[in-house]
Amino acid sequence: MKKIAVLTGGGDCPGLNNTIKWIVNSAGNDFEIEGITEGWKGAIKAALGENKKIYTLPLNIEQVRRIDRTGGTILMSSRKNPFNYEDKDVSDEVMKFLNDNYYALIAIGGEDTLGAAGKLSRKGLRVVGVPKTIDKDLCGTQFTLGFDSAVDIIWREVEKLKSTAGSHGQTYFVEAMGRSAGHLSYWSAVSANAHFVTIPEVETDYEKLFEKIAQRKQSLEMKRGYTLDGLRYTITVVSEGTRLKGIGEINKGKKDDHGNHCLGGISEFLASEYTKKTGYEARSMVFGHIQRGGVPSFQDRIRARLLGEKSTQLIRKEEFGSMATISEDCVGSVPLERVIGRIRVLDADICYDIENFKPVFDRSPKIYHEKEVSK
Ligand code: F6P
Repeated sequence: MKKIAVLTGGGDCPGLNNTIKWIVNSAGNDFEIEGITEGWKGAIKAALGENKKIYTLPLNIEQVRRIDRTGGTILMSSRKNPFNYEDKDVSDEVMKFLNDNYYALIAIGGEDTLGAAGKLSRKGLRVVGVPKTIDKDLCGTQFTLGFDSAVDIIWREVEKLKSTAGSHGQTYFVEAMGRSAGHLSYWSAVSANAHFVTIPEVETDYEKLFEKIAQRKQSLEMKRGYTLDGLRYTITVVSEGTRLKGIGEINKGKKDDHGNHCLGGISEFLASEYTKKTGYEARSMVFGHIQRGGVPSFQDRIRARLLGEKSTQLIRKEEFGSMATISEDCVGSVPLERVIGRIRVLDADICYDIENFKPVFDRSPKIYHEKEVSK
């Protein structure tokens, strides 16, 4: 029987196990499914001669029956890159190993994992992709696995924060992931009714933002004694990749194997600068990896299944070099080429009020555009 390999790469998210389950289920009696563990790392290690058994896991229907109840990925993940593994390009070895051992590979991942899959496909790898990223920044598909669950987590956390911040009249900068795209911070701010939001797509004049926040605080203070007690709080959702005027992005000074800066720390920076500049107290909260944790949302459950099934269908039709997609509620596919070196970001001119740091929420489908990534 033909054997298909499956791997999950990059940051994990809820819904990966559901996809794996439906890949196995939809393979039926046509294909045997084998998981490759730890994303590209497992493929690289096996390709470079390590015991293949350590990095592979045969999967059958019984084994995957209950995995959809859990978050994360049973196959584990990594950010390893066949084109830059310990400063070497081992992509030829990886391609040969995969093509020799499997009929095809299903790679589940974001721009990095699927970008590598696309480049391997150019070299001749039989591969199809499944879009996954809480950042929702993949080109060629409106839906990416994990985003819906992550937004759900963030708005729920912001709601909790509101009650305690309200009791103490606090100002909060809360940090959401999303890297170079603002989808996560933007839609979290919309769904949580946050007061302000910053996104990576535009440079943020943070002193102007501080003025807005301080003005809001002062006007709420004036209403003391009316019905506003418990409501004198301000929440700003800050995207981790926000570029600050005169400073740029706040990163940790290191890069991953795909060339991405490791981000983090902007909410803490803004909170302390706000206090220095205005004299008012502010606090920061980083949602961190909680955003990617737990069980999938309704949308991610259903669509994980659709994407899993579509990926085996693409293999049946020998449409290698393509990625399963969901756009406008329809399942489809695009060439993996679409995701190489490009990301889908918010069109801030349409959906963001840069003067007031607020979403312009008119549900226009044109609020996204694609751009090249430079790393
Ligand atoms: O790419 C997904 C993502 O969650 C980004 O939003 C974030 O910048 C990054 O992963 C965090 O990566 P890590 O889990 O490696 O710290």
